[in-house]
Amino acid sequence: MTSAEPAPAKLNLALHVTGRRGDGYHLLDSLVVFAGVGDQVRLAPGPLSLRIEGPFAGGLAADDDNLCLRAARLAGGQAAITLTKNLPVASGIGGGSADAAAVLRAFARRGHPLPADPQLLGADVPVCLASVPARMSGIGERVAPLPAMPALPLVLINPGVAIPTPQVFAALASRDNPPLPPLPAFADAEALVGWLARTRNDLQPPAMALAPIIGQVLAALSGQGARLARMSGSGATCFGIFADARAAETAAAALSRQGWWAVATDLAPAPAPL
Ligand code: C5P
Repeated sequence: MTSAEPAPAKLNLALHVTGRRGDGYHLLDSLVVFAGVGDQVRLAPGPLSLRIEGPFAGGLAADDDNLCLRAARLAGGQAAITLTKNLPVASGIGGGSADAAAVLRAFARRGHPLPADPQLLGADVPVCLASVPARMSGIGERVAPLPAMPALPLVLINPGVAIPTPQVFAALASRDNPPLPPLPAFADAEALVGWLARTRNDLQPPAMALAPIIGQVLAALSGQGARLARMSGSGATCFGIFADARAAETAAAALSRQGWWAVATDLAPAPAPL
């Protein structure tokens, strides 16, 4: 039997860098949500293998280091895996982590227990395993799911530059920033945007210094009427929050004419329970 598992794009709506551990990893405090666009993994019976298809398949190799195969080995499972790569690679929206987490969920549905240490595959894998709105802390291993979020009409934009995550962290001016303000339950998108205005993505200034086009993307999102425009993760993908789905679709259509990857979406449904 072939089973399909969604690997939704991860968005850091807010990301504060609050310290650094002895091993060089950074302590984070982040509000993470998942968007209604993503990759997909399918498992079919057979020995372990990986085939990659889809619009961004050319961006990564199906070699032994691929996170899908590493996840399968960590789960101790055998399957012919097909990854449909719909998301730009190395772009701050989870990509590889979401794919690895989807492989772990797919194997869990076939009776392989989830590994105790999914963070071995990457700092974002634990939150991607949950794939629900969450406050993420530690270096990513602490995941506290949040009450349901309001509908959030979003536009995601990627200008096609890949920035290596370690370079962005290395370029931080300050590593001891305050944590997120207390998180209320958000009655509606208005309340969430108001709260987000008091937060930051601390990785945005260093990423913009490395890739100034991020500034152009953020300005373009604001120019299209986004209530809030911000970079996700270590970039370069940015998101805009719009008043409604129609405004988001109009903005995405206009911004894709610049040659950027641009999609209008909303938050993803939670994955089927394991
Ligand atoms: O764990 P992952 O492979 O996603 O991390 C990529 C790189 O990003 C790490 O090697 C590290 O340089 C940096 N990083 C960090 N602190 C985190 C997450 C990632 O410094 N919490």
